[in-house]
Amino acid sequence: MEQKIPTRQEALELLHQYNEGDSLRKHAYAVEAVMRHIARKRGKDEEKWGIIGLIHDLDYEKFPEQHCSKTGEILLEHGWPEEYIRAAVSHGWGICSDVMPERDLEKFLYAIDELTGLVVTTALIRPSKSVLDVRVKSVKNKWKDKRFAAGVDRSVIEKGAEMLQVTLDELIDDTIKGMQEVAEAIGLKGNPA
Ligand SMILES: [Fe+2]
Ligand SMILES: [Fe+2]
Repeated sequence: MEQKIPTRQEALELLHQYNEGDSLRKHAYAVEAVMRHIARKRGKDEEKWGIIGLIHDLDYEKFPEQHCSKTGEILLEHGWPEEYIRAAVSHGWGICSDVMPERDLEKFLYAIDELTGLVVTTALIRPSKSVLDVRVKSVKNKWKDKRFAAGVDRSVIEKGAEMLQVTLDELIDDTIKGMQEVAEAIGLKGNPA
């Protein structure tokens, strides 16, 4: 099939087609926003980074056992470019795929995917329940508390930061800022005081 550059609208339609659940959709929006924020900051192709963030977990709701590989199949069927497919699949490196993140886009996706979960949980324990009130320090304070956001594998985030040679503080700051841009869409605008 001829490959063409997917638009955000096409990516969004695919996301909605494969993910009916609210929480997976919100996770996709959060990851998209963080990828956009980082791309913009670094002068990269924001649209591409965002679209890959949006569909990275495309298969998770319907094919949890084949997570990552099924996303690759679906995107291939839809004629998506190899570059997009590789990047999406590489987010699960060592977990559900053996495609190692190589480009900056892939390394950032790998590094911030789990981190968005930690930021969500940190927002939810604020009295305001708002991501607008989350600071780097509050996320760092919960880093070693294994019971807090227990599903979030901190070692993956640390490995990602190491690959990128960015500090955890910078990575956390970018993740918070990206998510703040879509606070409403991800249900974390919080309650007005
Ligand atoms: Fe995933
Ligand atoms: Fe994810």
